[in-house]
Amino acid sequence: MAVETEREKLEPDLERIARASLKELGDIRIDDVLSFIDRGIENMPSYMDLYRRWESQQWAVGDLDFSLDRQDWLDASEMDRKATLWSHRLFFNGEERVTSTLAPFVWAAPSPEVEIFLSTQMVDEARHTVFFERWWREVVGTDAPDMETLLRHVRPEVNEGYDTLFYDRLPSTAQRLASNPRDVDAFIEGVTIYHIALTGQRFELESMREMGTTDRGFYRGFTAIARDESRHVNFGIKVLQEAVREDAARFAPIIQKTLVECLPLISNTLDPPDPRYITEYGHTESEILQFAFDSLNKRLRAIGINLAA
Ligand SMILES: [Fe+2]
Repeated sequence: MAVETEREKLEPDLERIARASLKELGDIRIDDVLSFIDRGIENMPSYMDLYRRWESQQWAVGDLDFSLDRQDWLDASEMDRKATLWSHRLFFNGEERVTSTLAPFVWAAPSPEVEIFLSTQMVDEARHTVFFERWWREVVGTDAPDMETLLRHVRPEVNEGYDTLFYDRLPSTAQRLASNPRDVDAFIEGVTIYHIALTGQRFELESMREMGTTDRGFYRGFTAIARDESRHVNFGIKVLQEAVREDAARFAPIIQKTLVECLPLISNTLDPPDPRYITEYGHTESEILQFAFDSLNKRLRAIGINLAA
C-alpha cells in the first residue's frame, strides 16, 4: 500500500470552508459546513485525510470576542434567553461528558490511524467545552468559581433521555472499552453512539434556529465546532462502513440495536420543556425530528444498513 502523505484535493467551495479562519467562518452558513458530511459520504476521506484537515482547521477559543454577544444578551427578551439557555445547557454539559469519556476509545482503536484521529477528537471536545464555558461566563455571567461548579449549575434539570444518554450509556460504553480494549463489538457500539447518533443531531437543532448575527463570537465559534464535528461524523461513517463491509452479519445488528435504543432518548432530549422554545422561532418539533431523521438515514445508507421506520 502506498504511503499517503499528500493533502486531499477538495472542490473550490469545500476548500473555502476547509481553510476558513475564525473570522471568515462568520461568512459561512452552518448548513454549508454540514454539507461536508454529505460530500464525505460520496467520496470518503481516509483517516489521515481527516487528521490533516484537523491540522489545518485549528482555532482558538481565546481568539473569539464575545462583547457583542454580551450586548445582545442584555437586550434579549426573556423568551430568547430561556430558549438559548435550554439548548446551550445540553451542548455545554454534553461536550464535557464526551470529553471525559472518549479516552478509552483511543486505547481501543483497531489501528494507529484510528488512534491518531481519535486523539484529535479528544482535543476538539475539550475545546468545545471551553468554548461554552467562556460563553457562559462572559455572556450569561456566573459567579461559579470553577468549571465543576458551573457544570453542576448548567446540567439540564429534568431530562430523562439526557440523563440516560450522558450519565449512563456513555460512561458504561467507555467502561466496557476501558475494561477490554479488544472488545470490537463495544467499539462499534460506542462509535454508533458518539459519532452517528449524538454528533450532528444536536447541530441540526441549532442550525434550524436563528443563530443571530454572524460577526458574533458565538456564531464564529459554533461554526468552527460544526466543522470539527463534520470530521467526527465522517470518521464514524467510515469506521462503521468498514465494519459492515467486513462482517455485516456481526456488525449491522449491533449498529441497528444501538440506534433503536438511543434514538428515543435523543428525541426525548430534544423535547423542550416549553414548546415555544422551538415554535417561537418558526419551527415545529416534528420538523426538527424529521430533519434529524433524514440526515441520519443518509449516513446509514452510506454505512450500508437501514433502519426500519
Ligand atoms: Fe464536540
